[in-house]
Amino acid sequence: MPSHYCISLASVQKAQTAISGLVHRTPVLTNSTLDQWAERKIFLKCELFQKTGSFKIRGALNAVSNLGERGQEGLKARAVVTHSSGNHGQALALAARLQGIASYVVVPQTAPACKKAAMLEYGARLVECEPTDQSRVETASRTVTETQGILVHPNQDPLVIAGQGTIGLEILQQVPDVQAVVVPVGGGGLISGIAVAIKTQHPQVKIYAAEPEAADDCYQSKRSGWSPPTRHPPVTMADAVKTSIGSTTWPIIRDLVDDVFTVSEEEIQRATRLVWERAKLVIEPTAGLGVAVVLSRRFRDLPSSLHNVCVVLCGGNVDLDSPQWLRAPSVAS
Ligand SMILES: Cc1ncc(COP(=O)(O)O)c(C=O)c1O
Repeated sequence: MPSHYCISLASVQKAQTAISGLVHRTPVLTNSTLDQWAERKIFLKCELFQKTGSFKIRGALNAVSNLGERGQEGLKARAVVTHSSGNHGQALALAARLQGIASYVVVPQTAPACKKAAMLEYGARLVECEPTDQSRVETASRTVTETQGILVHPNQDPLVIAGQGTIGLEILQQVPDVQAVVVPVGGGGLISGIAVAIKTQHPQVKIYAAEPEAADDCYQSKRSGWSPPTRHPPVTMADAVKTSIGSTTWPIIRDLVDDVFTVSEEEIQRATRLVWERAKLVIEPTAGLGVAVVLSRRFRDLPSSLHNVCVVLCGGNVDLDSPQWLRAPSVAS
């Protein structure tokens, strides 16, 4: 594994030790309706059951418990700062509270109300910004200066990425004969951590990225090379993956992600509803994205020898005030 990657298998294993006992080892569930529709055996890694309702607590806890690695040795950090559409903000707030420090979360005005409320409940102080990558970054940097806090980037921080990679270690134990893993991609921290954890040990396991057609920067980057994100926020119900992959996650995605599958808003909506109806799992639409991919025509055209596929159900923080997917016709109708 090239040493220029921001993390290694050893950093993921170290993260696993750091966060064990503080996070859930989430279950892997199966569902025969899904298997039938996908024409494969589908394993659902249920991070919706994770503390704070998404995988994000893994990376946040690893980062907060290693603040000393950022030149703060001997000094107790005063605060941590981040920008987040919600899930990382909730996770960082809880992780900071467990360490007895303050947390400031820069949040787009458009973030779902339920996510803002949850962040406040975990003790975060919210700082609003415009819904663009640029505004998030600028507001976060100003907040770092004002609070003398330490920035914990939601998806480009190596400690965060290593923490997310612990999902990969668990998948290898829980589904030993896994042949492919499907992972929703925003900034790419989740898929990069999982890819390093899995490919280092089992290079033959395919790692597939899932993206909305409306936010396909990873797909485009894999075809023509990475370039810094555009200023325009995409419009997609998969609100947790509106952000774009960054320069830290790109080398791992470039080398270790086998392919990127994009799906339409309608496919995300139908897949999310299917999981609610048939598997009885309250996932958020961003988690429905991975399921939409395995149900898509392009994925179903992959060789049938690729039988055991694990989909990371990354979160379950649903805004029940705007459940668009519930208004979609049922897949059975
Ligand atoms: C539920 C959920 N899934 C997927 C992602 C994407 O993770 P990453 O930005 O590390 O690619 C996020 C990020 O916020 C998320 O909250």
